[in-house]
Amino acid sequence: MTTSKLLASDFDDPQATLQSLHDRICDTAQLPLNQARALPAATYTDDAQFAWERDAVLVRQWLCVAHISQINHTGDYVNLDLLGERISVVNAGTDGIRVLSRVCAHRGMDIMPPEFGHAAQGNCDNFRCPYHHWVYALDGSLKGAPLMKDHPDVVGGHMSLHAFNSVVWQGFVFVNFSGDAEPINTQFGGLETHLARWQMDELVMVADIAWDCPFNWKVLVENFMEPYHHVGAHQSLFQPILPAQGCWTDEEGANFQVCHLPLSKALQQKVKAGEPQLISFKPMPALIEEDFLEWTVYLAAPTMLLFVAPDRVYWYRLQPEAAGRMQLRTTLLVHPDSIQAYDYVQTLEAETELMRKFHLEDMEMCGAVQSGLSSAAYSPGPLSALEEPVWLFQRYLARQIQLRA
Ligand code: FES
Ligand SMILES: [Fe+2]
Repeated sequence: MTTSKLLASDFDDPQATLQSLHDRICDTAQLPLNQARALPAATYTDDAQFAWERDAVLVRQWLCVAHISQINHTGDYVNLDLLGERISVVNAGTDGIRVLSRVCAHRGMDIMPPEFGHAAQGNCDNFRCPYHHWVYALDGSLKGAPLMKDHPDVVGGHMSLHAFNSVVWQGFVFVNFSGDAEPINTQFGGLETHLARWQMDELVMVADIAWDCPFNWKVLVENFMEPYHHVGAHQSLFQPILPAQGCWTDEEGANFQVCHLPLSKALQQKVKAGEPQLISFKPMPALIEEDFLEWTVYLAAPTMLLFVAPDRVYWYRLQPEAAGRMQLRTTLLVHPDSIQAYDYVQTLEAETELMRKFHLEDMEMCGAVQSGLSSAAYSPGPLSALEEPVWLFQRYLARQIQLRA
């Protein structure tokens, strides 16, 4: 190492240090693609940067928290902790899909605490807080409070669990904690035409794997979106079938990215000869011929990641926790007719194993990258043209910084 990454003055004023990092991120992001470089390490390791991202970006945007097949029936719920909020995604029947805070309106207890062994997913008629047994309807309204029936606040019928701003879009449930994100159709305008033929609201989730990740959420986003790492991390699993050198990225969308991963030439020839390739489940019924020639990865910024193939969709649920940690679910969605196939159980087992295997390859890389970013020896290197999604994500980050400046 020849130069210090931080100036002495950076340590004097945390605000100035963050400002200096933001300047460096913006300077890097404005380089043309053929001169693009990786970002400074502090983008991924600095606690103040993570706090800024949480407050200035993540809580202000639409974050994807569930697929509707997880909450098909009235009373179905999925619980998760996201950005310090304990939430429940609930099917409240005629009251629609709600994203409720699990913080009791009495004295703040989590109404479904995982620490007490409460299931993170299930079905119920109502919610009962374990502390003093206050009961809430599925829409979050308070229905009863033992020995307090006559209390004016309880009698008034105005008490409830807090409902966060939420919306169902393309079959997925999104939450916006700040309550003032722009409409999701505006936020991701144009993306729906890419996804339409997959009819995501019809799909069913058939696998859901939890991962405790010792790395920054942006390390995962960048890894997920760029196909360059097929030559290394996935040289056996993906490089032969989705070779890096054929991949390409769509022009910049305001808040989303699309990266195309064409099948190898040999596989494409077979598809064109009428032999669909890499198909295990029932292909989505509305697809056109060219949909069978590639797999595609999508980022609906900041955190929604989709890996889409003719017969499946992998959706990743991200829960950033700190600069160097996140929780992750890797999930598999298929067309419901797939489940009728005589060999479905074996197919699902094999495909779930494949999902675990290729994600494990990514986990190992992302964990080692985070370690490298924490080293004094790290220095941002040049990006390949195949890392265009990383460059686009830098530009997204720079826009967020400029928006809040
Ligand atoms: S804190 Fe929930 S009932 Fe008292
Ligand atoms: Fe990967």
